[in-house]
Amino acid sequence: MNTVAVVGTQWGDEGKGKIVDLLAADADIVVRFQGGNNAAHTLVVNGQKFILRLVPAGALHPGKTCVIGNGTVVDPFALLEEIDTLRASGFLTGEDSFKLSCDAHMVMPYHGAIDRAREARLGRNAIGTTGFGIGPAYEDKVARSGLRFADLVDFRSFTAKLERNLADKNAYLKAVLKAKPLKAGDLVAQMKTVRKRLLPFMADTAALLYSAQQAGKRILFEGAHGTMLDIDYGTYPYVTSSSCLAAAAHAGAGLPPGRLDAVLGISKAYTTRVGGGPFPTEIKSGIGKRLREEGDEFGSATGRPRRIGWFDAVLARHALRLNGAWGLALTKLDVLTGIDPVKICVAYERGGQRFDEMPPGRVGLDKVRPVCEELPGWHQSLQGVRSLEELPAAARRYLERIAELSGVPLAMIGTGAAREATIMISNPFRC
Ligand code: IMP
Repeated sequence: MNTVAVVGTQWGDEGKGKIVDLLAADADIVVRFQGGNNAAHTLVVNGQKFILRLVPAGALHPGKTCVIGNGTVVDPFALLEEIDTLRASGFLTGEDSFKLSCDAHMVMPYHGAIDRAREARLGRNAIGTTGFGIGPAYEDKVARSGLRFADLVDFRSFTAKLERNLADKNAYLKAVLKAKPLKAGDLVAQMKTVRKRLLPFMADTAALLYSAQQAGKRILFEGAHGTMLDIDYGTYPYVTSSSCLAAAAHAGAGLPPGRLDAVLGISKAYTTRVGGGPFPTEIKSGIGKRLREEGDEFGSATGRPRRIGWFDAVLARHALRLNGAWGLALTKLDVLTGIDPVKICVAYERGGQRFDEMPPGRVGLDKVRPVCEELPGWHQSLQGVRSLEELPAAARRYLERIAELSGVPLAMIGTGAAREATIMISNPFRC
């Protein structure tokens, strides 16, 4: 298969970065199609740790083209910082190594200021956003007042739009949010530098991808966040402001319908989420704390401790169906070593009624109780395990049950943070 999308099927942080990095070895082009620097992929390559927020994880393979598609919202300052860091380590240096859609919208400093001031005002009812201005940037896009990278070409008209936007945002920040306004002068000067540095990367990336497909190139679409953070199908309003489904690759990168060969869903072997919102399988006991520490479950984007829960098969079915998943990659199985028994949520229960599927609109999800199956745990370390046969029998049983309940075959199993700590069952690019 030549065109593959990798998407998160929980609340983000499923370990997509590592899987994308692995699959990127077989791809020619790796594409981001939604979200912004609220995403963060942690990758360990040759013992060195990299955190990528905007540039696709293909960046760590020389000779690949990394593309940021039109469906993303991009903080140009964060992007430049990331490009500089990658280049300092010898990555992203080739002429065609990076392309930025001129149709993508920019996240401006006023978006971050609004995001943070709103969250502060919401207090106990806050969404728990990353505070990076993602929601306000998408709002401007839909309101047709956003700034696209294409607008940078004519800098005079860009400046006029920027000043108009800033006047509006400052009025809102001051009058409604009681927050400090931003200065126009500094921002215009900074944007001049942004323009100079980013113009060489800007392209019609949809056209580039079309030609690449025609030429038989292999393309990997890298989803950000996870299905439960999807603006439509997630736990609204505790979601992000974009569609996180594989379907978003079409509108978010200009991929024509029918041109995606396979979707790989990524789940952790347990569940995590950051920020507020319902979480049926959340573990409030010491096991949660233990998994947080063993799994280093602290947000890569914000450093916040992640909430921890058991694997939720109801949620997995919901997400895998929405994404039309061909296979499931299950990450961080090693983190469960020593937890005995391990639990899998197979259904929800509320007021004596059992729900085998996600409630419509996710209404009442904060009030359900998980119905869990208990399976024996395993105690042997998974370090160095590269095949299903080498796994302890209890770990194999756990995986089989997850595949059964999810209705999708397992394609990869993560047994550690490093690239090579993976059991590869089927690689979509080699099928
Ligand atoms: P926003 O995307 O910054 O607006 O945040 C909205 C919600 O999505 C918050 O609960 C964030 O913690 C969550 N979120 C956004 N991006 C990610 C991610 O990449 N991983 C996990 N949670 C995320």
